[in-house]
Amino acid sequence: KKLFGVIGDPIAHSMSPVMHNDLFNHYGIDAAYVPLHVRKSNLEDAIKGFKAIGIDGFNVTIPHKTEIMNFLDEIDPLAEAIGAVNTVVNKEGTLIGYNTDGRGFVRGLTEELSSLPDKKVMLIGAGGAARAIYFSMAEAGVQKMDICNRTTEKADLLKKACPFPVNTSIFDIEGASKCIEDYDLLIQTTSIGMSPNVDERPLEFNQLKIGCFASDIIYNPLETQFLKEAKSLGANIQNGIEMFVYQGALAFELWTGIFPDTKRMKKNVLNQLG
Ligand code: ATR
Repeated sequence: KKLFGVIGDPIAHSMSPVMHNDLFNHYGIDAAYVPLHVRKSNLEDAIKGFKAIGIDGFNVTIPHKTEIMNFLDEIDPLAEAIGAVNTVVNKEGTLIGYNTDGRGFVRGLTEELSSLPDKKVMLIGAGGAARAIYFSMAEAGVQKMDICNRTTEKADLLKKACPFPVNTSIFDIEGASKCIEDYDLLIQTTSIGMSPNVDERPLEFNQLKIGCFASDIIYNPLETQFLKEAKSLGANIQNGIEMFVYQGALAFELWTGIFPDTKRMKKNVLNQLG
């Protein structure tokens, strides 16, 4: 039997175990995926233990995504540039770290949107999630992607660290509000609007470009205030379920070679959210 898991602190809330166990079952793979509560102080020991028992692969969540990189044997270049690993593959005793968050986001987006590289994009936020998305969008060939953030210095750092060519101007929140109708695609990556603060939004806007697409990485609530307002101004919208499902699908593919049925995964996740 193969063994997979997810490490984090806290971990009890994770929807990954039910999602991945359903996939293993569905594809007839004899494997189990378990939630593993690992505190920061135990991370190194946990990885040694994983090597000792020959775990086949695992996901990494908060607060270990960066720290874990110290304990792996190899790191995929994109994960290295992002500075975070969310998926580990055990290849004959060698632990290899990947980041499927950003690439998962991009994959989920291309299911909804054609000709992604031609879109004029505004990325809202410059934290860890924004970094994974910014680099992965640039990797996917997006050429014009501006960033707005409360702290513009953090957006500057992101722009400077990107290993792929992309044309980026940086705005504060007020500046972005004034020109938001110029963009084809808005990507909301801050924590603003997340439950319980469901009435908050990261920036104000009264008008959007015709055909605008708005994506929010939050999935609780399923429709943030940002998405509600974008929808009321005619935008097509997408919530954070997509990114969660596709990061999981890419991890499953790295472990098994099978790109799984994402519709099935989405249903499973919505079920878990109740
Ligand atoms: P994550 O890893 O989930 O992306 P993070 O790295 O802490 O979390 O980043 C949080 C993002 O939300 C940042 O862009 C942050 O803005 P700052 O860089 O200015 O801190 C943004 N954010 C969080 N709370 C905010 C608030 N109350 N107002 C404006 N921006 C906020």
